[in-house]
Amino acid sequence: MVEGAPRFTVFGHPIAHTLSPQIHQAFAHQFGLTLNYDTTDAAPADFAEAVRAFFAGGGAGANVTLPHKRAAFELAAERTEAAMRVGTANVLTPLADGRVRAHNTDGAGLVRDLTERHRVDLRGHDALLLGAGGAAHGVAWSLLDAGVQTLTIVNRTPEAADALADRLGDPARAHTRYWKDLDSIGSYNLIINATSAGVAGQALDLPFAICGSRALCYDLSYGPAATGFLAWAKTAGADYAFDGLGMLVETAADAFELWHGKRPDTAPVYRELRQRYA
Ligand code: ATR
Repeated sequence: MVEGAPRFTVFGHPIAHTLSPQIHQAFAHQFGLTLNYDTTDAAPADFAEAVRAFFAGGGAGANVTLPHKRAAFELAAERTEAAMRVGTANVLTPLADGRVRAHNTDGAGLVRDLTERHRVDLRGHDALLLGAGGAAHGVAWSLLDAGVQTLTIVNRTPEAADALADRLGDPARAHTRYWKDLDSIGSYNLIINATSAGVAGQALDLPFAICGSRALCYDLSYGPAATGFLAWAKTAGADYAFDGLGMLVETAADAFELWHGKRPDTAPVYRELRQRYA
């Protein structure tokens, strides 16, 4: 703990394997800033009080990860438009009187990783979104904003896919299909795995037929959780298969800019993490 330096944290449960502290310290290093960035493991029942205590104690900003993103949104006194439409938050900034403002930078982080790091022009892509939970909500609006031609949402539980499509309110582009029909719904040139199957150590049973020519497959998770889907993508013939490490670094950059008013260079930080965790 550096005395006098601003304090940041990431709330999660569990939180031991988070890369957020080292990403933020690497960004801070780029500007010669000194900051404290620790981790806070809070069980769901303790989350609201932990947030209150952190900001009451002078906390300058917090990241929020699973399973607290919805609770972070709900406890905030103010919410950005991006947080409002998604209904969850991954960044909190302090307001006066101990109140907090909720932000959601997940979708913007994914789109920037795809368009700037991987040089993908999303316009004209037919996207298949696997999953309709928190992670899928986090990216769906941003994919539409980025101009995907169509967004087909497929979820094991169809009602959740329908509910997301209804909220998106763009029936000309965003619609649902049944998971059981995956082998007959045609092929896609952008497939995003937003299910939590990999995190839970479960394999997804996906037909190769959904993988179109020159397809890009992307798993929102990274590390071992993404391995199964990326291996499937390569076997299915995808031209590109990426995990969500780049998205993580981009979402962190958005948080950093909110807190410090400076835009970090994500490229060297991504490169180093990629080398270290390859
Ligand atoms: P997260 O915040 O990680 O998105 P979530 O909100 O619990 O977590 O959502 C998990 C998503 O992964 C859901 O879409 C879930 O499908 P259901 O709505 O049918 O539960 C999906 N999912 C989890 N395990 C899965 C599996 N083995 N096969 C297919 N989908 C799975």
